[in-house]
Amino acid sequence: MSALEERELQDYYEVEWDDINSELKAVLVEKKGKEESEIDRIHEEFARIIAENRGKPEALIEVLHQVQELIGFIPKAVQKEIAKGLGVSPGEVASVISFYAHFSEKPKGKYKIALCKGTACYVKGSAEIIKKIEEKYGIKSGESTDDGMFSLEVVRCLGACGLAPVMTVNGKAHGLLNPEKAINILEKYRKGEIKEG
Ligand code: FES
Repeated sequence: MSALEERELQDYYEVEWDDINSELKAVLVEKKGKEESEIDRIHEEFARIIAENRGKPEALIEVLHQVQELIGFIPKAVQKEIAKGLGVSPGEVASVISFYAHFSEKPKGKYKIALCKGTACYVKGSAEIIKKIEEKYGIKSGESTDDGMFSLEVVRCLGACGLAPVMTVNGKAHGLLNPEKAINILEKYRKGEIKEG
């Protein structure tokens, strides 16, 4: 066994899996219907990420990217292990996650809505659209619907100001919106009438 493999194995056992397991199982297996083997795959990969970055606080953002990609969200128990592994405080990990819209502590929906509240969109009524989506689906920015269908992020300028007000759904832009038009589009996604962008 190479030194790196030995180190990874040691790090694997240093990670406290119990809390992580219950958070992952509740979402991935019970809500999203994934196989339990998916959790084993996450264990191995997560242990590798921690092993490669142990004691490197400067790698925090890169590690968060990798973990967000791996799991799809960064639950509290995972944040704790990242903090321990890299040697930063749990508060620092939590504040980086809440600062960047790309990271999320809770699982995102099948359809990720990014609704622009930049200046051009705001003056053309994006606040009304946000309100309508919040009322219709019972979610606020950073949250997901209970059925896992939609998650909402309110963002600044999507770079398509000529189409204001704009939202993207899984990266696909929809512009010149009003509240009714936005809901119509989202309901088409729900029914599978618009394919993922
Ligand atoms: S302000 Fe909304 S796309 Fe630029």
